[in-house]
Amino acid sequence: MRVLGIETSCDETAVAIYEGEIDGQGHILAERIRSQTDRHAPFGGIVPEIASREHLSVLPGMADDVLLEAGLDWHHLDTIAVTAGPGLMGALLVGTSFARAAGLVNRIPVMPIHHLEGHLLAAGLEGGLPPFPFITLLVSGGHTMLVRVDGLGHYRILGQSLDDAAGECFDKTARLMGLGYPGGPAIERLARGGNPGKFDLPRPLLSRDDANFSFSGLKTAVMHTVKQLTRERREHWQRDLAASFQAAVADVLVHKAIGACHKEAVSRLVIAGGVAANSRVRESLRTAAKAQGLKIIIPLPRYCTDNAAMIAYAGFLRRLEGRQPEQGWDAQARWPLN
Ligand code: KG4
Ligand code: ZN
Repeated sequence: MRVLGIETSCDETAVAIYEGEIDGQGHILAERIRSQTDRHAPFGGIVPEIASREHLSVLPGMADDVLLEAGLDWHHLDTIAVTAGPGLMGALLVGTSFARAAGLVNRIPVMPIHHLEGHLLAAGLEGGLPPFPFITLLVSGGHTMLVRVDGLGHYRILGQSLDDAAGECFDKTARLMGLGYPGGPAIERLARGGNPGKFDLPRPLLSRDDANFSFSGLKTAVMHTVKQLTRERREHWQRDLAASFQAAVADVLVHKAIGACHKEAVSRLVIAGGVAANSRVRESLRTAAKAQGLKIIIPLPRYCTDNAAMIAYAGFLRRLEGRQPEQGWDAQARWPLN
């Protein structure tokens, strides 16, 4: 089965083709991703209308490119899977309208996919999903949550952020530190060679015995630290503050993720979402999971941040379980996972 995946929920336009077999195994035949960060960077964040216009101008050409690279034509595809939400409404409408039009013209069924389900399942792109149940730590720009996955579509949110998402905290903290957008990669670059023990930043909700997160206090602590340091030259503190901040986020994620696995008596931990591309976060989680005897599955960094491979793969798994493409669906800016 060949599935074309389309992702346009935020500031990345992405298209991919996944080819899978009846046993659930498969691989990506071709993929393209185009980030719009250079267009949004001057504004310090995403401008929704620019995002929609960019998707519109590049998506059709990217779909042609992946088909060409895979040596396929539209009629070789069995399904088009497209992110239908949650996300920016205008951006979602570009992807879903394109998918619908291509499906109609070429008589291919179109499957709406929940963006977070794409992230949750991305761990299966290389070698298939681990057996159910597993716990996924989903850390993206809009969401931070621990989800118990008991099967396809059986997702129980164990806890989530009570305020900012982890990625949002990276982005806001980067802005406070005078770094560009997007903040996550900027902080990670700067933190290399910095001293993570230099600044004593809070680890919010660490002592609470639940799976909820809070990151706004950490952001505020960075703000106060930056204020105190204004007289000193940035070069003297920026690296250490970036490293200290990253360490604080990683500590919280490790503690909550391992705690959730123990509480649920589940021995498999999966990491997903843009913040899971962070090398410090990956390493901390890997080390802690190993020490606790847990199996940890971390997708390649490019499958942690937004991509279309995960959408194609989610569409493939949905079709494999016998789900027929739905009628009468629409793009949804807000769409609860469960
Ligand atoms: O999953 P994602 O690509 O998009 C959403 O669905 O939100 O996540 C984007 C978020 C942004 O907040 C970005 O700053 C963060 O992931 N991010 C990172 C890194 N790469 C992306 N955070 C920390 N370190 C990174 N290397
Ligand atoms: Zn995402």
